[in-house]
Amino acid sequence: MSESQAIPVAELTQRQARAEHKLLAAEIAAADSAYFQDDQPILDDASYDAKRRRLVALEEAFPILKDAASVSDKVGAKPSGKFAKIRHRVPMLSLGNAFTDEDVGDFVQRVRSFLGLKEEGGIAFTAEPKIDGLSLSLRYEKGTLVSAATRGDGEEGEDVTLNARTISEIPHVLSGDDVPEIAEVRGEVYLGHADFAGINERQREKGLPEFANPRNAAAGSLRQLDVSITAARPLRFFAYAWGEMPVVPAQTQFGVVEAFKRWGFRTNPLMKRCESVGDLLERYRLIESQRATLGYDIDGVVYKVDELALQTRLGFVARAPRWAIAHKFPAELATTVLEAIEIQVGRTGALSPVAKLRPVTVGGVVVSNATLHNEDYIRGFDSKGERIRDGEPPDIRIGDTVTVKRAGDVIPRVQSVDLSKRPADALPYEFPKHCPVCDSDAVREHNPQTGEFDSVRRCTGGLICPAQAVERLKHFVSRSALDIDGVGDTNIEILFEAKLVQSPADIFKLNYDAVRSAMEKRRNEQIDARFAAAGKVRPKKEKKKEEEARAVDLLFAGIEQRRIVKLPRLIFALGIRHIGETTAAALARRFKDMPDLIAGVDAAGLQQPGAAYVALDNLPSIGPVAREDILVWGRREAKSETPLLAHLAMPKLNKAQQTALRQAFGADPSNWQAAAAAAALAAPGPDYLYLASDSEIGAVATESLIEFFREPHNREVVTALLEQVRTEPAETVAQESPIAGKTVVFTGTLEQMTRGEAKATAERLGAKVSSSVSAKTDILVAGPGAGSKLSDAKKLGIDIKSEAEWLELIR
Ligand code: IVH
Repeated sequence: MSESQAIPVAELTQRQARAEHKLLAAEIAAADSAYFQDDQPILDDASYDAKRRRLVALEEAFPILKDAASVSDKVGAKPSGKFAKIRHRVPMLSLGNAFTDEDVGDFVQRVRSFLGLKEEGGIAFTAEPKIDGLSLSLRYEKGTLVSAATRGDGEEGEDVTLNARTISEIPHVLSGDDVPEIAEVRGEVYLGHADFAGINERQREKGLPEFANPRNAAAGSLRQLDVSITAARPLRFFAYAWGEMPVVPAQTQFGVVEAFKRWGFRTNPLMKRCESVGDLLERYRLIESQRATLGYDIDGVVYKVDELALQTRLGFVARAPRWAIAHKFPAELATTVLEAIEIQVGRTGALSPVAKLRPVTVGGVVVSNATLHNEDYIRGFDSKGERIRDGEPPDIRIGDTVTVKRAGDVIPRVQSVDLSKRPADALPYEFPKHCPVCDSDAVREHNPQTGEFDSVRRCTGGLICPAQAVERLKHFVSRSALDIDGVGDTNIEILFEAKLVQSPADIFKLNYDAVRSAMEKRRNEQIDARFAAAGKVRPKKEKKKEEEARAVDLLFAGIEQRRIVKLPRLIFALGIRHIGETTAAALARRFKDMPDLIAGVDAAGLQQPGAAYVALDNLPSIGPVAREDILVWGRREAKSETPLLAHLAMPKLNKAQQTALRQAFGADPSNWQAAAAAAALAAPGPDYLYLASDSEIGAVATESLIEFFREPHNREVVTALLEQVRTEPAETVAQESPIAGKTVVFTGTLEQMTRGEAKATAERLGAKVSSSVSAKTDILVAGPGAGSKLSDAKKLGIDIKSEAEWLELIR
């Protein structure tokens, strides 16, 4: 509390007023954030209102204090609503993870095989610490800092230019004669350990909440509307990557980072160029050994392909580059007591056990919840009776003393049990057989393909299960889906309970007053409950009407912004099983809008494989090549060739394949041929294969799509939604490219690049790559050894190119 607080406003000096204003503003901001985002008020209503009145009085007496960023105008804003948005011209990506030496070896091997490098061909990498801070993109035009943006969702971040300018390690002007016209320099903002301790000490003195770790403190310090708060925090910056930079100052990762140093940035002194997996691992161990004495948090080592030309060839998968990986340090462990097991029901009906723990600090973060994965994990055996966790005893019981493991940003998990501390009366845990929310049966599906039971138990309530409905809605508005600002998990729960939102379309048809009263009601109930829990009576007073209105305004503004959405986001938002972000993106590249997708799925649904085909396809040892041969044989039988000759015409099959056929259809080859004939008749058609044999989509996702759109209710939900939102096509990948929108098939051997690289390049240039030739194919790229695809393409009059012609076309 400030010393001046007791003095009447009229008697304050400007200096005193300024100091008090700053403090009040910070306290109110903290209270707002606790109240609006965490639903965890840290002030009672009376003191909150007193602080607010005092702030307004100060601003009336000293108008100079009422700057653009004053909290008196900003209430209830979630932090991401506070800043203007900046769209990244080059997306800010994340990194894939490696946890073991073997993972690192696999990464290097993936890079080598993607590039088609021979045994002897060398390849260089850089290795550098992975700083545990927050990434920032700095844009320089003609050498002058013009903007700074946080990562945000990778496509759009927050404009923190004013804040970044207060960081002494971020140059305002770059020096050197090789600074390009446009240079977006990216790196990590972080806080050193000593500075972090100092900040928390000051928070304590002021009675404000402390930060859990240096990363949170750095983020909280950078994302401040009051720039003077950022300026007072000793934030630091390491440069290690870049975004838009039409002219790069070097040909290697290492060289560009060296240039950053010349231009005036700090770069990490532990970065090193490495020539082999051995070198990388050696660097990893060295950095790990220095971790404790570096003075700042790191959570792993990042490896990047050094040659920029190779980085370009390798490109990206989903949101991470193929040319880099983060080798994480091992997880941290702590011991605590398992107080209860709570069962949460997810959007697909999965019953997930969550460990409620006596709070414990693991690697600097307080953990009170951890995952127990599934029923088998608690029991310690899988459905085939095999042990799934190490150590004794196999099972986990409430009351047990357990080890909790937390690895980086991954959800903590219960790792093992200390049997010596098990209470005498602890009973084995009974996993519920009914949904704890809707009481429908909860079952473990049997997978006929593997002969095993799914490890996950699911509620069979489907649409009648409120937990599934509400989780689907949360998923719908979540960051990687529609990303609706102002509508998070809590608001969805409120709106769902008030019956204002039952399905996605309802979100776009909300009534202002209804939302407002639902939110007000819920907050009041919560506050009453807290007073009741504390054994106190809540004083009668004016409700915080104004703040409530602000929160509702934000919600409506967020919703309005999403009436136009990107197609891949909308597909992903529907929460169809097996349709993750990557598959949604792949679908969006193949269909122009939602009706087009539905038509494609419907067509596929009419050409699904029949049981006879599936029976053949599922046989062990029968891969795609043998299957095709067997089908050809079957078709001849269908054309009624005499069964006596079955044998003679039988395709070449190895021992294992023959055994598989014998076990399935008996010893007589004419039975096999009959089965082959039935399979041929039941074979899937081209509209099904268009999706199912596409390596980016596959049969599982295709089946799931068909099942989803067969359900009339799901179609209704989507139709209603499409009356509210419009989609824009997927990221416009290189519209100008000569192959944009074309469907390409590769066949035969490619000599200049691997299949994987050829496919990735084609997709980057906006083409769809398919594995089968059909009337939809535009170009067939045929290398030596091309077979039936080439003859099919000729028949269909498709444009056929050699690899050289293809490279010429895309160059
Ligand atoms: S490179 C395209 N290098 O890690 C690759 N990232 O998990 C861009 N990070 O969002 C990232 N230290 O915030 C890179 N030396 C380093 C890093 C680093 C920390 C962070 C960064 C990124 C995240 C990805």
